[in-house]
This record gives sequence, structure tokens and C-alpha cells, in this order.
Amino acid sequence: MRRVLAVCAAAALSVSALTACSGSDDQGSGSTDSGSGSANQVNVVTWWSAGSEKKGLEALVEVFNEQHPDTEFVNEAISGGSGDQAKQKLQTDLAAKNPPDTYQAHAGAELSSDIAAGYLEDVSGLYDEFKLREAFPDSLIERLTVDGKIYSVPSNVHRANVVWANVKVLEEAGLDPSTPADSIDAWIEDMQKIKDSGKQPITVGSTWTQLQLLETILIADLGADDYNKLMAGDLSWDDAAVTTAFKHFDTIMNMTDKGLWSQDWEPAMAGVVSEDSVAYNVMGDWAVAAFDSSSKKAGEDYVYFPVPGTAGVFDFLADSFTKPVGAKHPEGTNDWLNTISSKEGQIAFNKVKGSIPARSDLTDAEIAEFPEYQQSAMKDFGTDTIVSSIAHGAALPLPVTEKMKKAIGQYDSGAMDVAGLQQAFADAAK
Ligand code: GAL
Repeated sequence: MRRVLAVCAAAALSVSALTACSGSDDQGSGSTDSGSGSANQVNVVTWWSAGSEKKGLEALVEVFNEQHPDTEFVNEAISGGSGDQAKQKLQTDLAAKNPPDTYQAHAGAELSSDIAAGYLEDVSGLYDEFKLREAFPDSLIERLTVDGKIYSVPSNVHRANVVWANVKVLEEAGLDPSTPADSIDAWIEDMQKIKDSGKQPITVGSTWTQLQLLETILIADLGADDYNKLMAGDLSWDDAAVTTAFKHFDTIMNMTDKGLWSQDWEPAMAGVVSEDSVAYNVMGDWAVAAFDSSSKKAGEDYVYFPVPGTAGVFDFLADSFTKPVGAKHPEGTNDWLNTISSKEGQIAFNKVKGSIPARSDLTDAEIAEFPEYQQSAMKDFGTDTIVSSIAHGAALPLPVTEKMKKAIGQYDSGAMDVAGLQQAFADAAK
């Protein structure tokens, strides 16, 4: 995904690359009788409550209703991108032993505190029943496995290190949309040109979007190996390259419109998507669904490319659904986990959501039905170096990520400078 013009060729490659992963035709979908008759309903907490994300959920629910007509889907979505609000309410409900039947979380370290607290059932048995060990890539199964057990089922894989850029704004500043910068320093020079042309260089929203921006700058400045070491606690948060990344973050934050720092991702990036007033936004690839919703065309209205300095690296996250201990409709939970992991469910959902299926057993024909962006992401997921997103729960436990977001809030309010922010991250990670 170097630039949008290269994407079509890359998409063609993806078909053969992924065919190699094709396994059995057994989709593990829809055929289970788990819960029929006795499930009645499943109460599902997500944060896909509005805009393009809601459309993705609706596509999934349509398949659910076909596969499990006797189980009613009860939508308990809580607004707030990246689960900002949902996670807080869930922690209260889980502690009070009042869980929903299933809730959205992220594959990886995020769930470690819920697992340690005993909030979650081991769903390994469902992996066997739905034949998911064969359907998901081994690398994903490894990320989901904790002491030999698995506590959630992924519906998709998203990529966080993507820049979405407005073609008009770039061209007005004399920049070629098809040749993006290849380092953060070069990118900041481009931002200065855009500023000089009278337009806003880049936009960012509330603290989780800022954390996502910062993590992608860390990946660019450290490289994938050192970023992985930083996440594993094997590289110090005082490292010189980390300091460079925080300074870059500070410079880029000064190029954004402060007035949008309290906004969720979709309103914060409207200037890039529909208003032709801002050049860049770093956002996970759910953003492609926002461009789709506004009928914008890749290559004409917008381009996308990896955050400069991160080409060949895939900043990974996966939405993954749980089965809480004490769920009132455990058979309904099984039905939901069945649909979200089924081929039909993953194809219908991911086409709309901008993500790619977590399953790696799609046929060439099934892959060819996906939009261009998702085909390029499937290819990249198969060939890139994978690193884990901080802002979206793959890299660090939830309490650590929450402390980092809080520190960014203090930086935003002026209570902390960028050196203080770096120190706060070091303290949070201890
Ligand atoms: C992520 C989630 C995505 C998308 C995004 C913005 O955490 O994994 O599916 O919903 O938040 O809300």
C-alpha cells in the first residue's frame, strides 16, 4: 500500500497470495444447532452505534437473523469510537456481575485484565465446534491464546497505520497525491506546504485518535522491531528514538485544529472526507467506510497510504467478541459467536466495515468480491510485518492504555508538555 495507484496491481496479487491459505470448504457457519429453541435472545454490546460503523453491524445482523432466526439480536451499542464509553460501562457491569451476553473487545493484551478478574469463559470448545482453528491464521490464534485457553472470537482485522488524504487539498498545495512522503520529517515538510497554501494540514479528534496517531509515529521512528521491543518492555521509553517520536507528535499536533480535539473520529475527519478543507488524517481503515458513505472515490477524491516511515508494517487490531461468565443467554452468545466467525458473517460484515476477514480460507472468487481497499489490505496482512496497536487494545492491557489516554488529555489541556507526556507513558507502562 505505497500509494493508491499501486493498489490495483497489489490487489491482483492478493488473490493468489491468499489462495495459498485456502483450506477446507467447511465454513463452520450457520449449521450449528447451539441454542436453537432455548437461546431466545443475545444482548450484544458494541460501539458501532452510528454512521458507517452502524452499517457494518447491520450487515452482520442480517446474516445473524438468517442463520439463527429463533434468537433475537438485542442491540446494546454504546456510542464512542474505539469503545471509549463502552469500556467504562462494561467495567462497572462486569464488576457488578451484570454482564451482557457478549461484548466487543480487541484481540490481544486488552482482555488480559478481564481474564485475570475471571470475567470471561474459555471459548476453546467453540473453536473446535465451529472449526475455527483451521479457519483463522496460526498467528492470530497465537495472539488470542492465553495459557492454552481462548477467551474471544474475532470478526475482522483492521489496520491502524493508514493516512487518508484529500486529493484536492494536496494538489492545491502543489503536492502529488500519488507520491507520499517516506519519513515523518518529509511528511512534516509537506504539511508545512499545505499550511502555506492556506489549508489545514492534518486533523485529529479525541484522545484515542491522538494515541493512534502517536503509536504510528512511534512505529515510523523506531521501526517495527524496536516498537515491538517497546511494547514488550524490552526497550526504554527514554530511548532517543522514542523522544524523537514524541517531538514529532508535538509538531504534528500543532498542525491540527484544536477545536476538534473533543470530537469522535468521523466528525473530526469530515474536512478530509467531504469538506475538502484538510489534507490528512491518520485513521484505522474503518475510515474507508466513511468515504464510501459519502460516495467518494479512491484515487479521485482521496488516496490512502501507510503512515510515512511505516511502509511494509501492518499496525494490527482485531475486533473480538467475548462470552462473559454469568451471561443470561449463553446459548444466544454461542449463536452470535457462530455468526461473527462464519464465512458468510465475515464476508458480509467486512465488505461494509472496511476491515478484512479474520478467516484466511476465502476463495479467489470470494476475495474478488471485496472492494479495492480491502483486497489491498488482505495482501498486506499476508506479507507485511505485523505490530500491535496500542489505541485499539492489541498491544497493552486496558488499564495501561487508559492511563496513556488520560495523559494525552492532560497534554491537550496544557497541564503537561511533551516531555511530561513521554514520562507519563513510561510510568503507565511500568
Ligand atoms: C476500533 C474498532 C473498530 C472501529 C474503531 C472506531 O477500536 O476496532 O472496529 O470501531 O474503533 O470506533
